[in-house]
Amino acid sequence: MAKILVVYATDYGSTKKMADEIVSGAGSVDGCTAESKAAEDATSDDMESADAVIFGTPVHMGSPAWKIKKFIDTVCGGLWMENKMNGKVGAVFATGGGLGGTGGGGELAMLAMISNVTELGMIFVPFPKSSPGYANGGLQWGPCARTADDKGPIGFPDNMAEPARCHGANVARAAKLLAGQKIFD
Ligand SMILES: Cc1cc2nc3c(=O)[nH]c(=O)nc-3n(C[C@H](O)[C@H](O)[C@H](O)COP(=O)(O)O)c2cc1C
Repeated sequence: MAKILVVYATDYGSTKKMADEIVSGAGSVDGCTAESKAAEDATSDDMESADAVIFGTPVHMGSPAWKIKKFIDTVCGGLWMENKMNGKVGAVFATGGGLGGTGGGGELAMLAMISNVTELGMIFVPFPKSSPGYANGGLQWGPCARTADDKGPIGFPDNMAEPARCHGANVARAAKLLAGQKIFD
């Protein structure tokens, strides 16, 4: 059984809702189990026992939120020192208000986390443009939900549920293929 872990930061719940959809997609793949944990609650053991980890963040000032960064620098930092995440599968997602209509930093926030994923020695799974719902908030880096319109916050939008589930399923299939394989020396 391949284990998928979604670790997310959230203040107002939208990123948690997206994490829930990703868990639902990952858990729908035969031979996979999935769960999500808030960044404050996820532990080293959670990471070590996972075959894939999907990191999610709200965009804060054009970058990942401090809660996920703290998790990465502390919990993941220890695992990085000991090469414990090498060869596991990694992926990212984000939510953001996107003021200005061109993303508001979603790409930068995801790129920052991709740098962390690859620094950990993980195999990165992107979000291909053929994915269902890609037009609603797809980026090659991962799905990014826009949680505000020009009038203000709207929360997690319904039309991002399908791409989020698809991302979870993609990662789960990759984890199933790679679980237990020795990729790196
Ligand atoms: C301190 C702070 C900074 C933010 N900066 C940005 C930003 O730079 N770009 C953006 O698109 N949205 C920004 N937002 C909006 C959040 O990314 C957005 O509301 C997100 O979906 C909230 O996720 P959550 O409900 O999981 O906390 C910011 C929100 C806060 C609280």
